[in-house]
Amino acid sequence: MADPSSVPSTVPQGIQIHQADPQRQRAELAAGLLAPQASVSPKFFYDRLGSHLFDAITELPEYYPTRTEAAIFRDALSDMAARVPAGAVWIDLGAGSCAKAASLFRAMRPAAYVPVDISAAYLTQALAPLRREHPGLPMLGIGLDFSGGLALPADAVRWLAAQRLQAAPRCVFYPGSSIGNFAPEEALRLLRESHAVCREGGAGSGLLIGVDRVKAREVLEPAYDDALGVTAAFNRNLLLHVNRQLGSDFQPAAWDHVAFFHARESRIEMHLAARQPQTVSWPGGGRTFAAGERIHTENSYKWEPQAFADLLQQAGFCMPVHWTDARGWFSVFWAPA
Ligand code: AVI
Repeated sequence: MADPSSVPSTVPQGIQIHQADPQRQRAELAAGLLAPQASVSPKFFYDRLGSHLFDAITELPEYYPTRTEAAIFRDALSDMAARVPAGAVWIDLGAGSCAKAASLFRAMRPAAYVPVDISAAYLTQALAPLRREHPGLPMLGIGLDFSGGLALPADAVRWLAAQRLQAAPRCVFYPGSSIGNFAPEEALRLLRESHAVCREGGAGSGLLIGVDRVKAREVLEPAYDDALGVTAAFNRNLLLHVNRQLGSDFQPAAWDHVAFFHARESRIEMHLAARQPQTVSWPGGGRTFAAGERIHTENSYKWEPQAFADLLQQAGFCMPVHWTDARGWFSVFWAPA
């Protein structure tokens, strides 16, 4: 790869840190499937079809988080812009298409944009139209699986230095309530790492993060079990992805989508339940499932604002502020570092 600091700052480019390790992935999948309570990591939702199905979920009438968060950003934008310093380096976690951050550029006036996602190649594609729209904004995509640890790679730090932005404030941006897909202790670890990334930047750095809140079961459960069955397809599609990775012979139609709110754990749980007794095989292994036996595929934690503010402070951040919608369903927190 070319030295990232040796090309003009406005050319979008990528640094790929994450390297797929199929053998390790197969071992991880087999271990999860053979555990007494079988499980598969939710990262297996997001193959090509799964990513399209997730985009469709965000359009569903029952799935309120995406549009509620967007409305909060719309309504509170000037208030947010008064807190988040202009001239910050925006580090966008799980950036995907980069659309959410890009919609805030005019109000927030970042000095550089650093999206982070699994694939730097995908980010480079997503950055191409943004570069045309914002020709003066340096951008660098980083291909990193931050669920395994978040730190800016040395090449990215050098790139920031080449832009003379090593001392600029940093805004770590993590919208979409994806923090809810981490168990509280994992969420705390990621928040601590985000805090460390902020502290390596200048004064005024902080975290801007979207968090889904606890609410009535009657609202929560349909959001994860919609009438059209899109979330069910999203859940079952994980089995097709597992078949490709592991060489297994799961039949998606033999599994029911199950989603419910576990109030004590404050989380939506998603599972796949075997419709009838069945044996699933893969090279070197296999397992028999009884009728009704489940594979746990996802948790989506819902937070009370005070509990999340406490978690942010435990991670090292100062007292946060948050903005919410009229129904109090979702919050966007700004936590100064
Ligand atoms: C990506 N994440 C925030 C979604 C959520 O709401 O937990 C994933 C999802 N799973 C089912 N529907 C949406």
